[in-house]
Order: sequence, then structure tokens, then C-alpha cells
Amino acid sequence: HKYWGIVPAAGVGKRMQADRPKQYLELNSQTVIEQTLTRLLDVELLTAVIVAISKEDSYWPELKISKNPRILTAAGGKERADSVLSALNSIADRAADNDWVLVHDAARPCITQSDVEHLINELHDHPVGGILALASHDTLKSVNADLAITDTVNRNKIWRALTPQMFRYRALKDALQEAADKGWVMTDDASAMELQGKQPKIIAGRADNLKITRPEDLALAQFFLEQQ
Ligand code: CTP
Ligand code: MG
Repeated sequence: HKYWGIVPAAGVGKRMQADRPKQYLELNSQTVIEQTLTRLLDVELLTAVIVAISKEDSYWPELKISKNPRILTAAGGKERADSVLSALNSIADRAADNDWVLVHDAARPCITQSDVEHLINELHDHPVGGILALASHDTLKSVNADLAITDTVNRNKIWRALTPQMFRYRALKDALQEAADKGWVMTDDASAMELQGKQPKIIAGRADNLKITRPEDLALAQFFLEQQ
């Protein structure tokens, strides 16, 4: 079976409050998305990387990497899950049901080749697939509507979901399609699989694999890239 990269990159980056979508902000003298894609392309197991791009996006065609022969594009959708589903549908005639897909946020430029390969090595025999994630180091509190603490959550049972998230092509496509048909709202791919009653596996990932979300995250990503 083959391995495909899927990169949702059709968000507007509202929380970043910048003059353009955050994937086109500059990081280490290239754009965030170029950084992300260059690192994914270093993983030779990936046959191609399908990038979901918004129809209104005028930045993407300007990037040299948009012409890379291992990069394909698909139309972005309203929510992240719609963009991922669109990318999956775009390779329907090339991907086999049992091929693996690795979905990775465009906004996570500090992903390392070794973390991607670790995920693949750990999961290639797994019946469902799984995700990179981080253990929670802080003590976690449950609160009510007034922000009064009602409970301390056992942090040994809590992990923070990162990407890539790795699933079989057909299983993920069907899970996302059912979620779309039923109007279920999800912020990652594993959620769609969980709603099918599946149990994706957690693979511990690196702590520097942050998602650029708010303005202060760019400087942090810059620092992580220098440290790597
Ligand atoms: N994404 C996408 N299509 C959407 C929404 C998001 O492809 N309709 C992508 C983003 O481009 C990003 C990833 O999904 O790479 C994770 O989403 P998020 O961090 O929420 O990015 P944005 O939606 O752009 O940011 P915000 O929520 O602050 O607007
Ligand atoms: Mg968003």
C-alpha cells in the first residue's frame, strides 16, 4: 500500500489577526506552509502530498513549491474536516482503500521527518491508525459556567492531539463523509474515527510540534526551528 500526505491549508487564520492567512506568514525566510511542506516531502515514503487550498487564495500560486511534482492541490472547504475530505476525494482514482493517509496541519511547520517516520513505524500494522500527541504536564481542572472548579481531571489519561494523524484512506473518507452528512463538528481526524466506534492509538510526539494559532506562536516556532 501507499502513503499519502494530506495538508489542510484553507483556513483564514482568524485568531492570528494578520493581514493574510497564517500559512503565508514569514518564518525563517520562507512561508509557514513552505516550511511545513518541505519537511513532509523529506519523508520519501509519501507518494504525494495533497494540499487543500481555498478558492480565494492568491498566495499559493506564487510559491515555487506549488509546482513541485509531488504536490497536488484540492479545493478547500468550509471547515477543516471539509478540506480534508475534499483532498481525499481528489485522489479517489489513485488511492486504494487500504492506503494510509497522514493528515498534517499546514500551520504546524516544526514537524520533524523523524516524528513522521516514527508515527508510520508504530502504526503501519495497526487496525485503525492513530495520531501524534503530547502528554499533559499541567494539572487539569474541570469548571462550571462560573469558572468554579468542579473537578480535577486525572492528567495521566489526558493527551493533547497533534498532527500528523494517520488512517486508512477509505476508513477516513467514509468517517468524514458520515460526519459531514450528519453535521457533526470536529476539529481533528481522529474524532471522526472515534464517532465510528474506532479507537485510534496515541503515539508520543515532540513538544515543539506546535500549531501556529496566535501572534506569539510565530516567535516560538522560529525558536524551535533554530533549536532543531
Ligand atoms: N483549515 C482548512 N480549511 C478550513 C479551516 C482550516 O484547511 N476551512 C486548516 C488550516 O489552514 C490549518 C488547519 O486546518 O492549517 C488547522 O486549523 P486552524 O489552526 O483552526 O487554522 P485556521 O482555521 O486558519 O485558524 P482560525 O481557527 O484561527 O481561523
Ligand atoms: Mg480554525
